Amino acid sequence: MASRELTTIILAAGEGTRMKSARAKVLHEIAGAPLLAHVMETASAAGSSALAVVIGPDRDDVADMARRFAGKLDIKLDVFIQTDRLGTAHAALQAGALLQAASGDVMIAFGDTPLLTPATFEALRQSLREGADIAIAAFTATDPSGYGRVLAQGDQVIAIREEKDASAEERQITLCNGGLMAISARHALRLLKQVGNANAKGEYYLTDIVEAARTEGVIARAVVVDEDELRGVNTRAQLADAEALMQQRLRREAMEAGVTLVAPDTVFFSHDTVLGNDVWIGPHVVFGPGVSMAGPGEILGFSHLAGCRIAAGARIGPFARIRPQTVLGENSHIGNFVEINRSTLGADVQANHLAYVGDAEVGRGSNIGAGTITCNFDGADKHHTRIGRDVFVGSNSTLVAPITIGDEVLIAAGSTLTKNVPDGALAFGRARQSELDGKGRDRVIANQAKRAARKARGA
Ligand code: UD1
Ligand code: CA
Repeated sequence: MASRELTTIILAAGEGTRMKSARAKVLHEIAGAPLLAHVMETASAAGSSALAVVIGPDRDDVADMARRFAGKLDIKLDVFIQTDRLGTAHAALQAGALLQAASGDVMIAFGDTPLLTPATFEALRQSLREGADIAIAAFTATDPSGYGRVLAQGDQVIAIREEKDASAEERQITLCNGGLMAISARHALRLLKQVGNANAKGEYYLTDIVEAARTEGVIARAVVVDEDELRGVNTRAQLADAEALMQQRLRREAMEAGVTLVAPDTVFFSHDTVLGNDVWIGPHVVFGPGVSMAGPGEILGFSHLAGCRIAAGARIGPFARIRPQTVLGENSHIGNFVEINRSTLGADVQANHLAYVGDAEVGRGSNIGAGTITCNFDGADKHHTRIGRDVFVGSNSTLVAPITIGDEVLIAAGSTLTKNVPDGALAFGRARQSELDGKGRDRVIANQAKRAARKARGA
């Protein structure tokens, strides 16, 4: 395996005008993560020891996101700013300081190509190990328009011609440059510096290093990759296409890992969803970022989960909503129209119907009756609810936080509780029931008479 170091530079200074968005293109998301984050994750998984992103000026939002995500990946990141957008080679040269110090392999990737895989990074590096000095990821395009064409001679690439600079004959070529390029570190900086801008767009093209290299006897080769993996995102429609491809990939990975998807096309994953063996997922389930669930377990249809950790044996849904900062213990049952938010539930907790549990801790074995609401918000601040173990919260109870309910408490149905309840108590928080003898029947009979009279009048 590769013991050579890998330095990856991700170019993300483009303006993304075709997105028609105030947001930087690389901050648009698929599978719950920004486009740039996907490329960073792949670069990290491929074993990069150093990572750089090149961003446009006044893009603190992109720099912040990249730094945050690098922290999560636990990878060293340098952010470089390309003040003038003079082309892809010029962009790569902004990371000159890093290239100067690099040894081993340098990988140049684009921030708007989120479907790249570590396997393709590895295939390009393999090509370098086998003697190439430059390796590019190429694909056979169904429609090559807009892409750089790969000009090959034998097993070598002799040039990459951008569409605008290509002759009519060159435009017939369907082998296209996918945008991912590996360069042996000892050549990278020198070759990039040789690139000029004598072309139709007057830009410094990264792709021109192939020709610059040839004059020095440096060898470039292409590795052919599936077209889908190299899809770039320039428009909202392409963003949706990339999302669809990524979802297909995540669904397949989940099933390969031992998860049952009854209707795979209706389940939407986040890039970081983690599901254990024998998790069973019904139709129309959506995962936001940060969900992990141990198996076995079940998520029934139309449930929405984000930012939660779920222990084995859980049954969620149908129509459940589990929101961030939630932990569900073993064998918890969360049923229809139940929302759990920023809460920790112990083992064997049940909330089977129509409830809101927010900013709460619920001890093991407790049962949250239908219609229970933790009133966590007073209009200005959020407050905590603590419920002990083996508590039975009767239906339609309103727990006004901050409040602490002890262990083995029984709360009578329909209670509104505003004070703490000690261990073992039976708590009532409702008006005492009273009856007026015969008054009900009087009203029933009077109503029947009224209706009969109305009917007789033909009204
Ligand atoms: C590029 C390739 C083309 C390839 C295609 C694959 C070049 C010259 N062309 O074309 O051969 O077929 O990708 O999708 O490399 N960027 C900067 N600074 C710049 C210019 C671009 O950071 O000054 C970044 C962009 O943000 C983007 C990437 O580089 O992430 C590619 O730039 P883009 O203008 O989209 O190149 P293409 O015309 O698509
Ligand atoms: Ca592009």
